[in-house]
Amino acid sequence: ISDSMKVWDKDSSSRNLIPRLQKVRKNYLSMNKYNVTYKRKRNAAKLSPEKLLCQLRDRVNITMIQGSDSPFDTSEWQQYLPGKSLNETVGHLGHCAVVSSAGSLRSSHLGQEIDSHDAILRFNGAPIKGFEEDVGQKTTIRLVNSQLVTVEEQQFQREALYNTGILIVWDPAPYHAEIHEWYKKPDYNFFDSYKLYRSTHPEQPFYILNPKMQWQLWDILQENSPEQIQPNPPSSGMLGIVIMMTLCDKVDVYEFLPSKRQTDICHYYQKFHDRACTMGAYHPLLFEKNLVKHINQGTDEDIYIHGKATLPGFRNVRC
Ligand code: C5P
Repeated sequence: ISDSMKVWDKDSSSRNLIPRLQKVRKNYLSMNKYNVTYKRKRNAAKLSPEKLLCQLRDRVNITMIQGSDSPFDTSEWQQYLPGKSLNETVGHLGHCAVVSSAGSLRSSHLGQEIDSHDAILRFNGAPIKGFEEDVGQKTTIRLVNSQLVTVEEQQFQREALYNTGILIVWDPAPYHAEIHEWYKKPDYNFFDSYKLYRSTHPEQPFYILNPKMQWQLWDILQENSPEQIQPNPPSSGMLGIVIMMTLCDKVDVYEFLPSKRQTDICHYYQKFHDRACTMGAYHPLLFEKNLVKHINQGTDEDIYIHGKATLPGFRNVRC
């Protein structure tokens, strides 16, 4: 291992971002679209990785919307929401993989390694076809954002890519909102598209992520950052990581902490370049990566060579 094996610094600061991304962060801070009222605790002691894992386990309550959750407790919604809980659907999962969509997955040859896991989580429109060598071919869960389900509704309803595995959709909610308030005014009104998909694919499990967990997770990200983080929900990537930590014994996360293949190419499946995809613009992605590096139980070599971080499942965390 050479001295040049540089991996993600867990204390990365927004000061080291390119000027454009510094400005974007400041703009989101002043916009405060979700009315975040969090008061920063000064000099809050930095938590050890062990304590941080306990905070994540105990404070981030991952649940899916159920038919008993008001205002979904109507006879209409009972037809659409899955009858079984996510836990019942997936069962007890052992070794899991979370596959970010980063451009650095290109030419990684990680496909076999990724497929060797018991369950695999992918994001949004990330394809498999044509990329098996680098990203594998199994999908157990696909986490999609509400923007994809509404703005790209045609593709979402049509493309075979979405028909494999369990779907989970999430939508940004205001910081203090109760489910009722969010339901009346979601960021993207995905409910009709969700219902349509459910009626055309009744056998495929498709859940709506309870939005409460976004801000429970965001609070922990903010508390453990020495500067203000973007007052917007965490990225799909970070949400997916925590979802898998609740379902699995152990979670390998690929190319969230960039490997030696780090690139400004946004996604492995597109040609588009934008550093924001890796460093964050809307999402507090820089701070998410600081946290994941802090609690990583794998080696720097695994990050550098395989883009792999290894996190324990919550059921293996002792507090
Ligand atoms: O872009 P999209 O949200 O579909 O990508 C899935 C997730 O992968 C992101 O939310 C982010 O956490 C992660 N990602 C990344 N670096 C990239 C692209 C995506 O860390 N270049």
